[in-house]
This record gives sequence, C-alpha cells and structure tokens, in this order.
Amino acid sequence: MGDECATARGAGPRVGAGVQDGRVSEHATGPTTPPGRRTAVVTGASSGIGEATARRLAAAGYHVVCAARRTERVEALAAEIGGTAVTCDVTDPASVAGLASTVGSLSGGRLDLLVNNAGGAFGGAASVAEADADAWRAMFEVNVVGLMEVTKALLPALVASGAGAVVNVGSTAGRLAYEGGAGYTAAKHGTKVVNETLRLELYDQPVRIMEVAPGMVRTDEFALNRFDGDRAAADAVYAGVAEPLVADDVADAIVWMATRPAHVSIDELVIRPKAQAHQHKVHRVLPDRPSADDDSLGD
Ligand SMILES: NC(=O)c1ccc[n+]([C@@H]2O[C@H](COP(=O)([O-])OP(=O)(O)OC[C@H]3O[C@@H](n4cnc5c(N)ncnc54)[C@H](OP(=O)(O)O)[C@@H]3O)[C@@H](O)[C@H]2O)c1
Repeated sequence: MGDECATARGAGPRVGAGVQDGRVSEHATGPTTPPGRRTAVVTGASSGIGEATARRLAAAGYHVVCAARRTERVEALAAEIGGTAVTCDVTDPASVAGLASTVGSLSGGRLDLLVNNAGGAFGGAASVAEADADAWRAMFEVNVVGLMEVTKALLPALVASGAGAVVNVGSTAGRLAYEGGAGYTAAKHGTKVVNETLRLELYDQPVRIMEVAPGMVRTDEFALNRFDGDRAAADAVYAGVAEPLVADDVADAIVWMATRPAHVSIDELVIRPKAQAHQHKVHRVLPDRPSADDDSLGD
C-alpha cells in the first residue's frame, strides 16, 4: 500500500526497510523528506493518540514516519498523509535499529521531532495482591524500556537537526496512585522519570525533552487492551462522562508543544477532560448514580 502511494504520488523511491523481530521486511515505504521539510517520528501511530498526532503533524508540514507493529495500519496512514510507514516493535532493539536506519535514509540523518507514544495498560484492575507479573513486565517494556530504546537510537539524529524535540506520552497515572492501577502507574511514573532524567542529561544539547500527561482519553483500543478485550469493562471506564478527551485533543497539545520556538520547553503538560477534576473525582451522569466520586481508570 505504501508503495502504491509513493508511485501514485510520484513522491519518491522506496526508502529503507522495516524490521520486525530483527528481520528485514518490506514495510518501510513512502517518499523521502523534501529538502527543508521537517521530519517527525511517531511511535504507536497505528491507532488512537499516535494516529491522530501523525495526522496533525502532517497537516502542520512534517514528513511523518509512522511506526507501530501493525503494518497494514501504518501503511494505510502513511499513504493517506504522505508519510513513511515502518513496522516497528519498540521493545525490540533490532526492530528499533531498522527504524533509525529508515530515518537516516529519509532525511540525511536529521530528525526534528520524536513522539514516544507507544504504550498501554494491561492486566485489568488487579490489585498488587492479585497482580499478573507478565502484564507488569509488558507495561514496563513498552512504556519505559521501549521509550528508552527508541530515544537512544534516534538521539544522534535529533541532535544533528540542531533543534530537536522529544514529546514523551506519559499519563496522569504517572503522577499519583490509585487502587488496582499499580502496574500501569509504576510504568508511567517510569516514563515521567526518564523524561526528567533525559532533560538533565541533555541540558547542553539542542534537544528539548517534554512530556504530555493525559487523563481520561476515549480511544478505541486503550481500555479494551487494558481489560483484555472485555468490552463492558472498557466501556465502564467512560460511563456517564459526557465528554472525555478524544485522541485529537491530545494530538493538538503535542503539536502545540512541538511547534513552540526551540528555546521554549514545555517540560510537562497535564491535560484532562473538564469532567475529570482528579483521578477519583469524575463527573458522571448515570441513571442510578447522578454524580459521584469514583475509582476511574481513565488515564
Ligand atoms: N487513552 C487514555 O486514556 C490514555 C491516557 C493517558 C495516557 N495514554 C497513553 O497514550 C499512549 C497512546 O494511547 P492510546 O489511548 O492512543 O492507546 P492505543 O490506541 O491502544 O495506542 C497504543 C499504540 O501503541 C502501539 N504499541 C503498543 N505496543 C507497541 C510496541 N511494542 N511497539 C510499537 N508500538 C506499540 C500500538 O500499535 P501496535 O499494536 O500496532 O504496535 C498503538 O498504536 C499510550 O502511551 C498510553 O499509555 C492513554
């Protein structure tokens, strides 16, 4: 699909190659970045916040490298927005090396923006006493280790741009604790701390390190993945909330952060729906419970 796009637009040759599980595949497709155009990488671009961010960045003039594990989805998105699709598992160093190699061939080794968005919550609302260790490992792998792998691989290109920017997608879960959420809150606290550490380590380098921390965002897959496909449990997260954030609200914030002047670092930006005054204080209008404090997992 990406090839068809490149051919149909006459936009340029196939570039680089996608790597899945360390194997080179044929999924990195799309045009090269035209001279003078900024390049952005968005991880987790196959759905939700990442997909919306890729769309907004393309509209803002970026050539967007759309990275995720689901090839068909990133290819379709890249074809639509004139970007480049890369099949990438952020937890696999060989796969991330493939992403870095694609960025190198696209833009001469310069990268203007990295949005570390790939992430998620798994294991339902289990207490620590009942926690599934595999779910905890998976959350740490994608929200912390994956972020480190991608940042490490792309840092030279960000520095080479002379004015690089990183927006890490954290969460309000990285700022507090709530019952049944320890695996995810621990992982997102990890995202926050890596963000802070990077800013210290790179204080004299031309790269801004920023974090957006959303509260409740109604995306198609986040809560469904958290509850292992249980639709009723996923829907309950948003029950009675008139207007949760949507992916595009967060994408809008990310693009705003990224497009401030190079000397302006929006270190941390917390964004919640108006209805979510705090994690346990969500305005819900339900037939049997007109308005209540609750133990929402909306983050
Ligand atoms: N929704 C919320 O309420 C909310 C609130 C606060 C923060 N967040 C954070 O926002 C980010 C996006 O969430 P979302 O709501 O948009 O959820 P989503 O639709 O489930 O998006 C998660 C994305 O991450 C990708 N991903 C997962 N594991 C990956 C891996 N190993 N390698 C590469 N990509 C991977 C998925 O793509 P593939 O499966 O195709 O790889 C998908 O595109 C996450 O970091 C999440 O923690 C969400």
